[in-house]
Amino acid sequence: MSTADVSARLQELRAQLRHHAHLYYVLDQPALPDGDYDRLYAELLALEAGHPELVTPDSPSRRVGATPDSAFAPVKHAVPMLSLDNVFDEAGWLDFDRRVRDRLGWELSVGVAYACEPKFDGLAVSLRYEDGLLVQAATRGDGSTGEDITANVRTIRSVPLSLRAPAADRQTQAAALPALLEVRGEVLMPRAGFEQLNARQLAAGDKVFANPRNAAAGSLRQLDPGITATRPLAFYAYSIAALDGAPWPATHTLTLRWLAALGFKITDLAASGPGPLFVQQAWQALLDRRDSLPFDIDGMVVKVDDRRLQQDLGFVARAPRWAVAYKFPAQEASTRLEAIEWQVGRTGALTPVARLAPVSVGGVVVSNATLHNIDEVHRLDLRAGDTVVIYRAGDVIPKVMRRLDDDGHAARAPVALPDACPVCASAVVRPEGEVVARCSAGLFCPAQRKEALRHFASRRAMDIEGLGEKWVDLMVDAGLLHTPADIYRLSAEQLLQLPRMAEKSAENLLAGIAKSRDTTLGRFLFALGIPE
Ligand code: IVH
Repeated sequence: MSTADVSARLQELRAQLRHHAHLYYVLDQPALPDGDYDRLYAELLALEAGHPELVTPDSPSRRVGATPDSAFAPVKHAVPMLSLDNVFDEAGWLDFDRRVRDRLGWELSVGVAYACEPKFDGLAVSLRYEDGLLVQAATRGDGSTGEDITANVRTIRSVPLSLRAPAADRQTQAAALPALLEVRGEVLMPRAGFEQLNARQLAAGDKVFANPRNAAAGSLRQLDPGITATRPLAFYAYSIAALDGAPWPATHTLTLRWLAALGFKITDLAASGPGPLFVQQAWQALLDRRDSLPFDIDGMVVKVDDRRLQQDLGFVARAPRWAVAYKFPAQEASTRLEAIEWQVGRTGALTPVARLAPVSVGGVVVSNATLHNIDEVHRLDLRAGDTVVIYRAGDVIPKVMRRLDDDGHAARAPVALPDACPVCASAVVRPEGEVVARCSAGLFCPAQRKEALRHFASRRAMDIEGLGEKWVDLMVDAGLLHTPADIYRLSAEQLLQLPRMAEKSAENLLAGIAKSRDTTLGRFLFALGIPE
């Protein structure tokens, strides 16, 4: 291939790779199978290796570079990175709205147009683009001076290394690529990625992160961008701090739309409309969805949509008068650790469980939290009577994050692994080098028996309709079930001895059991739950 041909092919490859990375990481709408993407990427790497002079700084191959000298050097923000005032309830929100209208000199009956969007629970980052190229990324720092984290931010796949040329948009009237653009937004780690990262960290004996926000912060502070590149971070753009060479969008809503056209990831949870009632409803709707979102949010940011009005309202001290954070109930709360108890699972694994003085976390009352294993208890140095911080988000099981220091701690008894199973008193064993301790009794242990039977009857195993947890417990306690085979020997008379078992339910249960006989070998083997 001639150099001109290579150059043309490189341009084509980069355009394709950018396009598909944009679909995948920014729009969450992958179109190309991973293998095809990998093949294009490999071709790009090979061509660039043969022609280093043709490598451009925004090539998809240039996300991970060497450890830079500039890492964490101070960056003075040309426009300070402000914070937001908080409100915590409807009264606080209505006060904010009233202050806005007072300032603007508006009648009570005229609704201000507001833009609402999630308050991301991550880290604020400022990105600087010159002539369409990403040249600098900085943390917020103290608001006026942050730290240079360009090399790490370049590894975040949803951060464009170069801006896309937006199609002319009649409403934003901004078809041009700005000569200068400073974009602000939030770097965060989605919950699923956070769980996977922690599982990897645990397996490798590395430190686990208490919550996605800490994981995102730790990932941005890596000295080696190669490590940051392995962390599942995302960047959501939410404002423009500086702009040259393109008209400034007239509203916040149009700003988001333009940022999306330039290639940034923006939230699909934004809503705009007039007056305080609209905002109150949007807040409730977002709160209702909070647990099902892929990432943590700690409230809703409400902004006066119109840029001219924003300018009229201006700033006080370190926060704008035109925006406010309307917070949600906190996902962290402190409470008393009443006791640490041991639960015995299907395979006999002993899991420590924290019994807590009931506390509301993110709007849900929590009174138990898993502690995983004895090493975790020791790592956190937990003792009954301590005050602990609980974290709960979405479907994630409540977690003990840390212990708060107090004078009484030293006098409390440290937790030790029990010698005997708390359920059947058989010996507890913990093989050399393993983190999990187990009750050695197998199906002789009622706890293991119950779990094994529950598993046997569960949906993905024998799928015995009607044989839920409650009945398994009652039948084991009544001595009706010792092994899974006993399920198929149950009679109506036996069932009717159980408390609150009616004739109709006994009939249905026996029908469910009979039906489960017709199954696949795969399900049957899975139901037996043979270790390893
Ligand atoms: S706008 C001038 N929008 O909240 C106001 N901030 O307390 C600039 N944050 O440091 C902020 N989500 O990290 C804005 N959708 C959002 C946000 C958001 C999270 C954070 C941001 C900032 C802090 C202010």
